[in-house]
Amino acid sequence: MRKQIAAANWKMNLLYYEAKDLLNKLKEFKVENENAEVILGVPFPYLLLANEIIKNKNSFYVAAQNCSNHSSGAYTGEVSTAMLNSCGINYVIIGHSERRELYCEDNKVIAEKIDAALTNNVRPIFCCGEPLSVRQKNEENQYVEKQLSEGLFHLPAEKLQNFIIAYEPIWAIGTGKTASAVEAQSMHAYIRNVMAKKYGVGVADSISILYGGSVKGANAKEIFGQKDVDGGLVGGASLNASEFEMIIHSLK
Ligand code: PGA
Repeated sequence: MRKQIAAANWKMNLLYYEAKDLLNKLKEFKVENENAEVILGVPFPYLLLANEIIKNKNSFYVAAQNCSNHSSGAYTGEVSTAMLNSCGINYVIIGHSERRELYCEDNKVIAEKIDAALTNNVRPIFCCGEPLSVRQKNEENQYVEKQLSEGLFHLPAEKLQNFIIAYEPIWAIGTGKTASAVEAQSMHAYIRNVMAKKYGVGVADSISILYGGSVKGANAKEIFGQKDVDGGLVGGASLNASEFEMIIHSLK
């Protein structure tokens, strides 16, 4: 059975003492569902702190929000996946729409980052999703399929077993406007089908496909309840302990 995942994406928020306070609250959460996992995507300076605070908690993991596509060397300001691995970090968010848009990351760089992560045993959370202009033209399926094929299709099937994909329609990120449960299910089923066509049903069924875009305590249950939605990648609402707790408890 594939994992059901509540992943937090704190983005560039919280000062050190605020991060520590939130992590100490999250540490108290109980995750009863054996198939559920919680992943905390925190800013680089808090990765080790987060790992230390949750170290004895089953089913809790820490993620970086970005990584370099290079392995080491003269890349001032960059962080390699080998460094993340050496710090005990298990996951990295790759290809978030904010990185694609604001930092000009294209599918080629994203594919390189995926390779770098897999080489160093850091598990990627691969993000995809269309802007509003594309959805208005009803071209979201082709748009997302291209992101998948250019970002992932170079990988052999064994690397995609139990992989994590996050579908985040850009028009729903930080806007308070979520995709409806039906819209989310329809795209998630499409993504699974694209993966099944390329890699077979077994691999596609093992992939956790998370929904992201204005997930909150109040809407998580309905969205996560959809057949092909395996949890969420949560921005704003993950900064609030009780909201995020509701979201974790909404996993199926
Ligand atoms: P949001 O962000 O939950 O604040 O919409 C989601 C994300 O960008 O990962």
